[in-house]
Parts: sequence; structure tokens; C-alpha cells
Amino acid sequence: MSTTQSSSAEKKVTTNTVQEMKRRGEKISMLTAYDFTMARMVDASGIDIILVGDSASNVMAGHETTLPITLDQMIYHASAVVRAVMRALVVVDLPFGSYQGDSKQALNSAIRIMKESGAHAVKLEGGVEIIDSIKRILSAGIPVMGHLGLTPQSIYKFGTYTVRARETEEAEKLYQDALILEQSGCFSIVLEKIPSLLGKRVAEAVRIPIIGIGAGPHVDGQVLVTHDMLGMTYQFQPRFLRRYLNLYKEITDAITHYIHDVKTGDFPNEQEQY
Ligand code: KIV
Repeated sequence: MSTTQSSSAEKKVTTNTVQEMKRRGEKISMLTAYDFTMARMVDASGIDIILVGDSASNVMAGHETTLPITLDQMIYHASAVVRAVMRALVVVDLPFGSYQGDSKQALNSAIRIMKESGAHAVKLEGGVEIIDSIKRILSAGIPVMGHLGLTPQSIYKFGTYTVRARETEEAEKLYQDALILEQSGCFSIVLEKIPSLLGKRVAEAVRIPIIGIGAGPHVDGQVLVTHDMLGMTYQFQPRFLRRYLNLYKEITDAITHYIHDVKTGDFPNEQEQY
């Protein structure tokens, strides 16, 4: 292997890289992407992990929940992202209904994602109740990221998108689930919308990286939905979200300008024609 090849390979983020980052105390950055163009920009910016989240069901397809997105649709999104990414670790959500009932089905779903998209790992929502599925996927050599706290695939069980695990019993279950996921071999866990002190307790108790979304500052890294932090999904305003741009306004202003230029005959001008 040439020096160039080996140095570019060394720069790729792997599951080991993020575990090493936790050991060094270096925070891990993670964002979502569902298509080639966005994934190229997110990767080029130096993000550590790109999540092809089932939030694509809301953001890309306009569904109210993450439940309708299918395995085929997740593979379509993941393949586009993988084609764009040169450095980041690409993790793909197993969609609702593709892993909960049966560990064999879970393994088949994970294998399809890895084979057909070229992604590097999968993410599953849930703790002890899906542990057989997680173990079976791991036994095939597929890295697994867990997801506890607010797990949007269970929205009809929770009834609302409010903060989870405020009560002792639910907090204790989440803590025990995190230990079980670590013991089973998950390389990392996402904690969504839980009290900051619980995030801290879990992050201190396990050696694998804890990535938070609305889980406070004491965890090992942060994840946001890219379209939210860029201000494209302007109606979504949870407390944990920091907006870095107001792209909804920027884009609609630019399109209004274009429409004006077309209607007035200003576009195309002398230089913009053959
Ligand atoms: O689907 C998704 O985007 C997620 C993140 C919110 C963690 O699971």
C-alpha cells in the first residue's frame, strides 16, 4: 500500500476512533444526513459521525412520525450518503418494524443495510427488550449503536415527545439498559431528551461513548438533525436545539428573488445565454 493510501485510511473515523476519543476526553460530533449533497458538506466540515437517521421519515418525506419509513427507503438514503463520505463513520438507523419482533429478522435487516449501502454501523432503539436482536447483529460482526431515552419509534407508547426518565424508576431502567448495551458489545449509545444529570451518570458509568441529543453537556458527544441546526425546519423549536443558520429564510428569499428575475425578464442576461 502506498503512503498516500495508508495515511488517508488512517484519517477515516472508525468505531475504535470514537472510543479512543472518549478515553482522551475529546468530544465527539455527530449530525444527520440523508442525501449525497448534504453528506458531502457535513463530511467535508470534519464531522466525526454521520447518522442516516430514520428522522428522514419526517425531514425528507414529511411524515409526522418515524414509523412509516421502510428498510428499502433507509437503504436508498444510506447509499447516497456513503457515496459522498470520505472520512466520517456512517451509522444507519434500523427502521421501525425491521428488528423488534425477531432477532433473525433484525440480523437480516442489518445485513441488508451493510451490504446494500456500504455503511459502517447500525443503530437500534431500545434496551433489554431488544437485546437478542442486538446480540445477533453483533455476532455477525456488525457494529451497533444503542439509543435510549426518548425513542421516537415508541412515540405511541409514550404519547408525547416530552423529556424521558425524570422519575426514578424510568431513570434506573435507562441506567441499567445502558450497562446491558455496553456489556453486550454496543460501541456507543445515543441518549435522547433526558435530564442532564442522568446523562452524566450514564456517561461516567460506561466506557463506550455516550452521544446526547437533549441530554446535557456531560456526555461524550452531541448529535443534532442537520436540517434543524441549519434552520431549514423552522417550526421545530425544542429547548436543546441550537440554530446556526436561518436557511428557511435564506432559501425562500433567494427563490423569491429568482421568481422576480424570471417574471421581469432580468434573468437570463447577456452573459447567461449562448
Ligand atoms: O433519527 C434520528 O435523526 C436520530 C437522532 C435524533 C439521534 O435518531
